[in-house]
Amino acid sequence: MQAERTVKNILVTGGAGFIGSAFIRYLLQRVPDFKGKCVNYDALTYAGNLENLAQVAQDPRYAFVKGDICDQVKVEETCKQYAIDTIIHLAAESHVDRSIHGPLVFLETNILGTYHLLEVVKRHPTIHFHHVSTDEVYGCLGETGLFTEETAYSPNSPYSASKASSDHLVRAYGKTYDISTTISNCSNNYGPYHFPEKLIPLMILNCLQRKPLPVYGEGKNVRDWLFVDDHAAALWLLLQKGRKGETYNIGGEAERRNIDIVKTIVKLVAEATSTSETELTQLITFVPDRPGHDFRYAIDCSKIKQELGWHPQHTFEEGLRDTVKWYIDNQPWCSHVQSGSYRQWIETNYANR
Ligand code: NAD
Ligand code: DAU
Repeated sequence: MQAERTVKNILVTGGAGFIGSAFIRYLLQRVPDFKGKCVNYDALTYAGNLENLAQVAQDPRYAFVKGDICDQVKVEETCKQYAIDTIIHLAAESHVDRSIHGPLVFLETNILGTYHLLEVVKRHPTIHFHHVSTDEVYGCLGETGLFTEETAYSPNSPYSASKASSDHLVRAYGKTYDISTTISNCSNNYGPYHFPEKLIPLMILNCLQRKPLPVYGEGKNVRDWLFVDDHAAALWLLLQKGRKGETYNIGGEAERRNIDIVKTIVKLVAEATSTSETELTQLITFVPDRPGHDFRYAIDCSKIKQELGWHPQHTFEEGLRDTVKWYIDNQPWCSHVQSGSYRQWIETNYANR
């Protein structure tokens, strides 16, 4: 049994993204015992938005460093400056459709970026490194079966191939250089602050704006959905208690077909805005399928449940209702993201840092 790791000063790569910002808000708002420094290291690509962190930006435990994970020197300087003992690595290009149109940046950020971080950890082996990855590395399931930690890798998109490659690098560095690493492979997250290129936020905003709801293929593909705060809680547990060299699957045990999710969103938006459900249903538009579209993902997460006592706290129905409400209540965030003006805010506030 490994002793619990004490996390003092933590570097969060990709902390301005959807999951990274949820993790930082979780740590600073829901873990009162955390007394160290939480350093958000993020390059602020199109997916990075410091408005996601407005609630914690003034917390003295929080710091932001604008930097690229491929910049080894800057990563190392930041680790030294803040006496970092733990890195949680979320920075990535994360959208499958973008990886189909332009794979190169996925290879650069997801593979080379991870390599550069590992090189820094190799020189500072007291740092523990947790790598946040995806269930997509396991490939595609048919109607039955679950991905376990032993499932062979079989990635089907440039995105998942780049994540698979980074997982292998983390594992190899752990074995070869005896550095302390852990990996988690998680299913689809949803919740507040999700960039509206992904299925759930895109459908909510398009419904609210009476735009077409583009469903790929026949909408029968299945994903397993996890509320993002439940992922953040799992990651915090893993940082403290995850066993060196181990992989943990994380999932919501909430499999849904895409078309059923879209119909539920239509119903929730209609209810919340006193609109006709029939009118919104007419927005559903079947469009050509994503190339290489994986049919089904489903996760066996019994390992993290049994070893660390983690359980998702939100049912999909509650989580989706709360998410729809969040987008309706947070129109300024939505309009900044859709207009791109969140980027001007970043330039104004962080141009000289
Ligand atoms: P996201 O796209 O919302 O955020 C990615 C963040 O990384 C952004 O803030 C971006 O600015 C930053 N970033 C990108 N390139 C960078 C670079 N070169 N240097 C520094 N920062 C950089 O992604 P997300 O959905 O929050 O996913 C976070 C991680 O979790 C990713 O590694 C992803 O593969 C993994 N993951 C995501 C999901 C999901 O459903 N969203 C599920 C499982 C695993
Ligand atoms: O499984 C974990 C992965 O989940 C993460 O690693 C990725 O970073 C994350 O983006 C997500 O990948 P998906 O491809 O599953 O998510 P996305 O929201 O893009 O699509 C979910 C499903 O909805 C998928 O079957 C494709 C479909 N879809 C998506 C969009 C954007 C549509 O039918 N229409 C759409 O417009």
